[in-house]
Amino acid sequence: MDVFYDLLKFLHVMSFVFMTVPLFNLIVVNERSLLGVSFNYYADRYMENIIKHGAYRCFVFQLTVLVTGILLLLVGPGIKVLWINWIVLVKTVLLFILMGLLSYVHFKLQPKIELLLSNVSPDSSVPDNLVTQLKPYRIRRKWLATFCLFLVITSIILGLQVYVRYNLLLTIVLVALAGVFSLNVNKTLIRFGWV
Ligand code: HEM
Repeated sequence: MDVFYDLLKFLHVMSFVFMTVPLFNLIVVNERSLLGVSFNYYADRYMENIIKHGAYRCFVFQLTVLVTGILLLLVGPGIKVLWINWIVLVKTVLLFILMGLLSYVHFKLQPKIELLLSNVSPDSSVPDNLVTQLKPYRIRRKWLATFCLFLVITSIILGLQVYVRYNLLLTIVLVALAGVFSLNVNKTLIRFGWV
């Protein structure tokens, strides 16, 4: 059983590492804006494909985190820990919020962007107002990705404390740093990883 538990824990950790899709999407978006041109069919299509397909991957990783998390409880101390251990409860709530935000982006925002892009082909001229129409959706999506990144890092900070707690002040400082880092990823290319 110990081997199975360790395997579950491995899958749990691997899946939330892969849930850092918002980090890499934000980097892709900021790299795209470095090109300087307001619209370029191939660059924009390539970026939108990465974001659109990234959502499917992220759904699978989120689901894997949820299933392995529940199994870790069932195989380990029992499902009751879900409501008596506030860390596990908060992690679960954060995971559902992340699933909800990803669903909003994928099923509400992304189709609006796709609809606008469907009017353009590599050979056609770009409609005058295309960039203006795309902008509000892209800005909202970028802020939501930033918030998701913050929630993912916060869940990791909590995830490390399921059974052995960190000093509360350290936890608060780490969560604050998660916020600073997420904002930094929104605004800059973090060329040197952390900054
Ligand atoms: C965004 C969501 C989540 C993240 C980022 C996350 C992250 C983590 C991390 C980093 C660990 C530490 C592993 C270690 O100390 O070796 C962990 C352990 C654990 N997680 Fe999660 N988790 C998430 C969701 C969940 C959910 C939804 C559940 C259960 C319903 C859950 C149950 C557990 C349990 C029971 C452990 C303890 C394993 C152990 O130390 O033996 N997690 N998680």
